[in-house]
Parts: sequence; C-alpha cells; structure tokens
Amino acid sequence: MDETLLRVENLSLKRDGHAILSRVNLAVRPGEVHGLLGLNGSGKSSLAYVLMGCAGYAPDEGRIWFADQDITALPISERARLGLTLAWQEPARFEGLPVGAYLALGAKDSDRHHLAAALEAVALPPSAYLKRPVNHALSGGERKRIELAAVFAMRPKLAILDEPDSGVDTLTLGDIAAVIRRMADQGTAVLMITHRDEMVTVADSASLMCQGSVVFQGDPAEVRQYYGRRCRPHAELLGAQPWEAARSPSFEVQMQRESER
Ligand SMILES: Nc1ncnc2c1ncn2[C@@H]1O[C@H](COP(=O)(O)OP(=O)(O)OP(=O)(O)O)[C@@H](O)[C@H]1O
Ligand SMILES: [Mg+2]
Repeated sequence: MDETLLRVENLSLKRDGHAILSRVNLAVRPGEVHGLLGLNGSGKSSLAYVLMGCAGYAPDEGRIWFADQDITALPISERARLGLTLAWQEPARFEGLPVGAYLALGAKDSDRHHLAAALEAVALPPSAYLKRPVNHALSGGERKRIELAAVFAMRPKLAILDEPDSGVDTLTLGDIAAVIRRMADQGTAVLMITHRDEMVTVADSASLMCQGSVVFQGDPAEVRQYYGRRCRPHAELLGAQPWEAARSPSFEVQMQRESER
C-alpha cells in the first residue's frame, strides 16, 4: 500500500480563461497534518474545491489519488463517501437547526456524549450550545468552531480545513491548533489551509503556494522561514489594494531587492 493518503500530481486549473493552479504536486500521509500556506489569492481555496470535486472546479490537467484510488473524475458525494471532507472558509449556516442536530448530520457516532465531546474539543460548552439554533445570532468565530466540531465528530480520513483560524481571536489560535492535533490523533489526516504562518507550527509537513503553484515544500519551520523572507514583505507592501501598491515606487524597489536575493 502507498504510504500517502492523498496524492496530487501536476494539477492545473483554469477559470474563465485565467490560470488559477499550475502543475501543483502535493502529498498527505494518513493521520498527518499538512499545512498549506499562501498569501491571499494564491489559489489555496481553489485547490480545496478541486480536491473536493466542487462544481466548476474540474482540473484541466493532472490527477488526484485518494487511498490508492484515482478520484479525479469522481463526484463530490463519492469523494465524501470515501472519507474526504471540506470545512469551508465561510461555513454554511443551516439556519434554525439546533447545533446538536447539525453535528449529528455527519457524525460517525451521533449519541449525545460524542456530540458534546466534539463541542468540548473546540472549547464551546455543550450545555450552552447543543440546543442553540444555528443562525445569525452565532458569531463568526462560534460558527467556525461549530464547523470544526462537525469535522471532529465526523472523523473523516482526510479533512481539508480552509482557514480554520479566520475569524477566530489570536488568543484562541492555540485552541484551534489543539483541535487539529486531536483530529490527527484520532486518525484524521488534515490539510490545513492558512495564510497565517504561525498556524503552520501545528503541522507535520507543509507546502507554500504562490500564484497558483507550490513553490516550497518540507519541514514546517523551513516553510515558515521561507514565507517570512519571501512572501510576507510582499503582503505588507501590497496591503489591501494590490493595484495601487503595485504601481508605487517602493513596491518596485522592494521587488527589485527580492529578485536580487
Ligand atoms: N472565475 C474566476 N475567474 C478569474 N479569476 C478567478 C476566478 N476564481 C478565482 N479566481 C482567482 O484565483 C485566485 C485564487 O483564488 P483563491 O480563492 O483560490 O485564493 P486563496 O489562496 O484561497 O485566497 P484567500 O487567502 O484570500 O482565501 C484569485 O486571484 C482569484 O481572484
Ligand atoms: Mg481562500
């Protein structure tokens, strides 16, 4: 048996004529946490949608192998049946359903004790949340935690977590890291997507994406160091308005320095 659970080979994706992913290669072993780090717009979510088989995200080239099976052409439902799941960057709300019932939808074991344990794993007291409706009254961070609890209760073979840290206070990043480690301990491999390099420290291995390509792979500490040297300066210069920053002289100077390194 192949030692990888997920293997991505030369995956490319175009959308509306734009190249979004270019010849991406990636491997995740069973039960490991693999960090996928990259700046905004580098293609991380698009890769997640291709891996999950979302509509409109069939790759233009390349192959996806999951548990020794070529899943490139399989529909989303088949991939889910094989044990692949995706926690969205912006979780769906399932308006009105009690949190407990929402967790039970995909849970491997839906008895109350297991659902409560899943909420405890994301530091939400079950007594306060199990019966609470999933609706607009939940904060973004609470919804995000409930989404993580749902994946925890599901116990898939591979969980793709798209920015599990977004919308959650910096102070609670440790909680998020702890639940990801617990997922791995109970046998779920995790592809953890993030643009915050401190999150990568929770991973066993990591990849760095830049403009639709994986540009660096290996030990999380090395990937983090590379990101800090090569990517973070660009992010700081670009800020929220890349088109303006890209025209500014300071940006040109910085890019020149980068290319000389
Ligand atoms: N249909 C499309 N047509 C053109 N460009 C697209 C389309 N869909 C996505 N893109 C572009 O592809 C790039 C990758 O987007 P994606 O959402 O995968 O990035 P990301 O790494 O997840 O970013 P973030 O950290 O902000 O979530 C972006 O520049 C985005 O604008
Ligand atoms: Mg994204």
